[in-house]
Amino acid sequence: MRENMRMMSAVGLSVVAVAVVAPAAQEPVQRPDALVLGEVVQEIESLDALRSSLASSFSGDPDRSTFAQVCGPVGAQARRLVEEKGWRIQQLAEKYRNPGHKLDEEAELVYRLMAEDPGLMGMWARTEMEEGPGIRYFRRIVVEQACLACHGPKDSRPQFVRAGYPDDRAFDFEVGDLRGLYSVFVADSP
Ligand code: HEC
Repeated sequence: MRENMRMMSAVGLSVVAVAVVAPAAQEPVQRPDALVLGEVVQEIESLDALRSSLASSFSGDPDRSTFAQVCGPVGAQARRLVEEKGWRIQQLAEKYRNPGHKLDEEAELVYRLMAEDPGLMGMWARTEMEEGPGIRYFRRIVVEQACLACHGPKDSRPQFVRAGYPDDRAFDFEVGDLRGLYSVFVADSP
């Protein structure tokens, strides 16, 4: 008898569990605007290719002027996109140079996944930021040979980096390492 009661209460519990889970499963799938998502992917590929070509085209010791030719234009292009499209664009890293580029909680989760799986180049998620609900796209940033002039061994960092970034963590990278990620947030209603 006692055994039966225990069985009944177990059945009762599983019914409750199903009742709690069921409504969430009925919510409609929120589809992204595929054109916008495609545009985000395209713009970030261009931004990354821009940095790549700028980094590999400079020669000699990197100094302020070469910095202006590499990461300066990348930042400027990202700001232009923010103005033009109304997206939130960030470059985030665990080992950051600019402390404004620290990973937030969500980006850290994605960073961990990308660190574990070198083939994971990008992903997007439905999420919420200060702007409200929307989609957030992440794209891996990979270290290339040309990046090492400024992100390679600690002691060979250019003087302007040592002086300008006292809390710098963005050194000692090797080719192929995960450098960080681009994040683009597009709110549902601008
Ligand atoms: C000439 C020096 C120089 C070269 C070459 C260079 N960087 Fe940087 N990078 C910097 C500096 C300086 C910053 C900090 C910019 C700022 O203050 O926002 C930076 C910032 C970044 C950031 C933003 C995150 C952070 O740590 O603040 C990323 C990502 C990045 N670099 C990736 C790369 C990649 C990838 C390459 C090679 C394709 C590269 N960099 C080549 C100097 C360089």
